[in-house]
Amino acid sequence: MKIVLFLVVCCCVYSSIKATVSYDDKAIIINGRRRILMSGSIHYPRSTPQMWPDLIKKAKDGGLDVIQTYVFWNGHEPSPGKYNFEGRYDLVKFIKLIQEAGLYAHLRVGPYVCAEWNFGGLPVWLKYVPGMSFRTDNEPFKIAMQRFTEKIVNMMKSENLFEPQGGPIIMSQIENEYGPVEWDIGAPGKAYSKWAAHMADGLKTGVPWIMCKQEDAPDPMIDTCNGFYCEKFTPNKPYKPKMFTELWTGWFTEFGGPIPTRPVEDIAYAVARFIQNNGSFVNYYMYHGGTNFGRTAGGLFITTSYDYDAPIDEYGLLNEPKWGHLRDLHSTIKLVEPALVSAYPTVTYPGKNQEIHVFKPKSGICAAFLSNYDPHFSARMKFGNTQYHLPPWSISILHSCKDEVFNTAKIKAPTTQKKMTPVGKFRWQSYKEEAPSSEESDTLAMIGLYEQLNVTRDASDYLWYLAEVDISPNEHFFTNGQFPLLTVMSAGHALHVFINNQMAGTVWGSLKNPKLTFSQNVKLRAGVNKISLLSVSVGLANVGTHFETYNVGILGPITLKGLNEGTRDLTKQQWSYKVGLNGETLGLHTLDGSSSVEWLQGSIVAQKQPLTWYKTTFNAPKGNEPLAFDMNGMGKGQIWVNGEGLGRYWPANKAHGNCDECSYTGIYNENKCNRYCGDPSQRWYHVPRSWLKPNDNLLVIFEEWGSLPDWITLVKRTI
Ligand code: GAL
Repeated sequence: MKIVLFLVVCCCVYSSIKATVSYDDKAIIINGRRRILMSGSIHYPRSTPQMWPDLIKKAKDGGLDVIQTYVFWNGHEPSPGKYNFEGRYDLVKFIKLIQEAGLYAHLRVGPYVCAEWNFGGLPVWLKYVPGMSFRTDNEPFKIAMQRFTEKIVNMMKSENLFEPQGGPIIMSQIENEYGPVEWDIGAPGKAYSKWAAHMADGLKTGVPWIMCKQEDAPDPMIDTCNGFYCEKFTPNKPYKPKMFTELWTGWFTEFGGPIPTRPVEDIAYAVARFIQNNGSFVNYYMYHGGTNFGRTAGGLFITTSYDYDAPIDEYGLLNEPKWGHLRDLHSTIKLVEPALVSAYPTVTYPGKNQEIHVFKPKSGICAAFLSNYDPHFSARMKFGNTQYHLPPWSISILHSCKDEVFNTAKIKAPTTQKKMTPVGKFRWQSYKEEAPSSEESDTLAMIGLYEQLNVTRDASDYLWYLAEVDISPNEHFFTNGQFPLLTVMSAGHALHVFINNQMAGTVWGSLKNPKLTFSQNVKLRAGVNKISLLSVSVGLANVGTHFETYNVGILGPITLKGLNEGTRDLTKQQWSYKVGLNGETLGLHTLDGSSSVEWLQGSIVAQKQPLTWYKTTFNAPKGNEPLAFDMNGMGKGQIWVNGEGLGRYWPANKAHGNCDECSYTGIYNENKCNRYCGDPSQRWYHVPRSWLKPNDNLLVIFEEWGSLPDWITLVKRTI
């Protein structure tokens, strides 16, 4: 017993003192051992803590060594100095679960993250700190960034989560894809990236830092590659390992766009091609994409689903054969890892579009990669005394330089079909959200048009612009029937126009072009007319040089054409502003708030009326299959269950684009292998099981366009 205890103590002391993570030109070195590491991105707030253990287990069973995540500043510090590390934002718990599973973690602190996350992860309040300018040599930004980075690093240290402390974190990241911005802005960008590297290095985490997509990442930062393929990438110094920090397993979906998919044969090909070219770290972005709950989706028009066609689907189920084929690839890479980490490849060119990479260290072990890059033709390749058959666009991995263990295009993993089975309908009650009057106490009158974010500070998607327009009874249009043309120009993202409380129309933009123009003849009456414009944001920009300066909302001009006087410019007149909806102020999505107003029931429930709140209660279906709401038939709005925001829904925004045939061969990009053109960009909305009680769950919907809630169905996802 004593001896055992002694050994345990020795081991602990040994690992807490001697455990190191370093790198050389070949690989990341953990405790003196070079490793070929397979990693996968799972972003903790895109699932629930109840889902985390299963996701991590599936990642481990899928042959991953590392889980990579960003840290989401705006989730952790929703207002200055008020921190949130609870629930889906319990970062320490997430990292500890990774450790318990025996995996490593790669912590991308950022704190700018891009990630199709609102404002790229930076808090909106940060924009309003005096003198602020994001991601450049700007004191206020650097002070705030350092403060948050230190907070996260210190939190990880105090929980002993870095590898030299016995924890799972083997690497961190500062900034994110800063290269293109630096290129854009020049000297201040260069100074900032130097500062960021120096600041991060000074935090003495004991593990390497990376800077992805940043060619001039200063030492000791490792510059790394993100993309669909990275075999041609070389780090900026000969003593840094070649790392692929984001291998995109699919792509995100935007409202109005189709659903991108990426064939697993091509993903495996990209991995094998990278590894055979001396690559030693591959991270799948995403391994589990998950859900943009609440209002966390960002970049404009990003859907609530962040499924990404990842190996684990949004609901936490295996996306087969993607997951299984990659698992087979990972076990093959493990098999040949000893050869890969101890030799440089020798390359020969047996034929057109063909290459052979051999790793043959002195120890006598050997691994070979046979490649056929031809997108159309298969190849017979002689290597040693054996002929190998390679499908087009594929790579075979040979153990001991003779046994083909894996070919990227020969899938052995099973394919499974998933379906959404209806399990429940609802009986709804409704509450009408009225266009506000400028007399209301929570409106603010100002001359001219104001940028939306400056007014809402992103407290809500919604901002009302309210004006009154006097129309003389002598206007000619009353006799000739030619109503005046109202034109409203907006920086985005969607706009509902009400004239005298009647909806006159709706317009919206897209990710590529968020700007929009409403231009329609509107029915006005003699006397005072109410023009109520509801401007709706659909996620804030997450990328682009100084994206914090991008405008949202109605900036004009607003004109009324076809009056006796000609065209009247309404741009510079008085406008009243109201942030958010009455229902939001009342908290109608919560149990308390929802009982604070009278709801219509039975035959008088609002139907096809714009700006309507709906509520109902329901029991959780038995079993543990993942659940979703089928919103097909609904317009646009938001969903809450028991007060938790499920996200924005918009099934009326149909997928435009090209959904032509999809071949796994040839260079992939996100416009290839798109699916579901003509269908809603997102039809189903995940409701995590852990948000439900057995009975009486409160479901609340806010519908902007006007639709029939009877369409909504609860479904379960089954294999
Ligand atoms: C990368 C970025 C990620 C994510 C990805 C697209 O450039 O680093 O955060 O936005 O693009 O999904």
